[in-house]
Amino acid sequence: MSKLSLDRILQSQGFGSRKYCRSLIEDGEVAVNGEIVTDYKLIPDTAGLVLHLFDEDWEYREHLYIALNKPANFECSRKPSHHPGVLTILPEQFSWRDVQPVGRLDHDTTGLLLMSDDGAFIHAQSSPKRHVPKVYAATTHDAVTDELIAQLLGGVQLHDEPAPLAASTCRKLDTHLLEIVLEQGKYHQVKRMLAAAGNHCSALRRVAIGGLQLASLELEEGEWCYLDAGQLALLAPQTE
Ligand code: URA
Repeated sequence: MSKLSLDRILQSQGFGSRKYCRSLIEDGEVAVNGEIVTDYKLIPDTAGLVLHLFDEDWEYREHLYIALNKPANFECSRKPSHHPGVLTILPEQFSWRDVQPVGRLDHDTTGLLLMSDDGAFIHAQSSPKRHVPKVYAATTHDAVTDELIAQLLGGVQLHDEPAPLAASTCRKLDTHLLEIVLEQGKYHQVKRMLAAAGNHCSALRRVAIGGLQLASLELEEGEWCYLDAGQLALLAPQTE
């Protein structure tokens, strides 16, 4: 159990400065487990704690682990330049908690994007030492051929890479649709690998990370959900 007072708890959840959070509490704007509390010094039990403010219930969460079904035309960059940032899809207070995308998807790539405010989690998930497979469905300009699959499995040389990069697995899903699984996360990797193999990626969607399947989350594009411990366990590395 945390020993945080209510004003600090609100601040930790991203609702604003301590001073602002105190004023919300003193103005009777905050309910704790269903009861309005005006004493900001109260130390509530954080286990199962539900705050109510701004007409919504907010379950206390020490850290946020989020899966977003990313739509096209959103940037993962912290300082987006041409399109809105993915953070704008989440509640505003999550930005105050320093929630960040775990890795990047291109602005036109859709699908599974993890987001968190847990630095250790972000670091571990992004580490190249982890061999967590990322599964993509790539729509191709030219038809998928056995030769293309053989090239991607055998490894293709990208300009700025010291050695060829290979897909872990790769299979044809349809005449112009390829499932490609990568264990690295290089810049524009799928698109560049397809180009290096003589084809062109016209649309890209990430459908799974490790054992976590986007389909199992039942999110429409633009929707997000919290990940529970069981879903996070599916992201565990296969080898360290
Ligand atoms: N590979 C790409 O080319 N783009 C992405 O967004 C992800 C992987």
